[in-house]
Amino acid sequence: MLKIEKSSEMVGFAAAAMVAKQLIKKPDSVIALPTGATPISMYETIVKFVKYGIISIEKAQLFNLDEYVGLTREDPMSFAYYMEKHLLSRIERVQHNIPATDTKDPEREASDYEEKIEKAGGFDLCLLGIGIDGHIGFNEPGTPFSSITHVAHLHPSTIERNSKEFGRGRIVPDIAITVGIKTIMKSRHIVLMATGVEKSSILKESLFGEITSDVPASVLQLHPNLTILVDKECAAKVISNASEFHRMNL
Ligand code: PGA
Repeated sequence: MLKIEKSSEMVGFAAAAMVAKQLIKKPDSVIALPTGATPISMYETIVKFVKYGIISIEKAQLFNLDEYVGLTREDPMSFAYYMEKHLLSRIERVQHNIPATDTKDPEREASDYEEKIEKAGGFDLCLLGIGIDGHIGFNEPGTPFSSITHVAHLHPSTIERNSKEFGRGRIVPDIAITVGIKTIMKSRHIVLMATGVEKSSILKESLFGEITSDVPASVLQLHPNLTILVDKECAAKVISNASEFHRMNL
């Protein structure tokens, strides 16, 4: 299903509403969470839902999709820090998991993380952003669809984009731990968020192009329960392909 929202804030609101619906249906849901600019408004809305007593996240198990290797949790560029800032420090106690940032053995950390996800029963709901290279989580172009949680080497376009956030004088880590594509695809429901015109072409390629590991998000065409949330800006170019939407039952 494709939903076009008026603004990026409304995309965040719609995503938060899906989290709320999931938690009302199953309070102990296992939910995978992304970071980045796109989901910030989703976290803001989730915090409001919790504060107004609309939902409780206490029983849920949250798993972040990825984390850089080589940063401490306190580093403002780590995803652990991002989650503290946008969600965790602002709500009730919550069961939250994220791969360790400063691990000496990233391979071991990755396989332990996969085991944790499996023990929890897999994801009921997986929220995703998309990179301009088509990555989901940190599954960069070329990542096999059969991948489980693993150590990933970041694509030059990802490093370049992220270097703007890191600022001058800081080196962007080129290694991360990410939940794999197979693990993501086992989710009972996937919600992909894309906002802004810069995501238009990659979204179009992912949804209507060839299903190939060169475009990791293209694997989502195979998922039986996919919701895509886009803002008008991002939809503008994608929507020209109306017949394709019909073909994909979007
Ligand atoms: P962004 O990142 O929300 O900052 O654009 C998305 C992603 O890389 O998954």
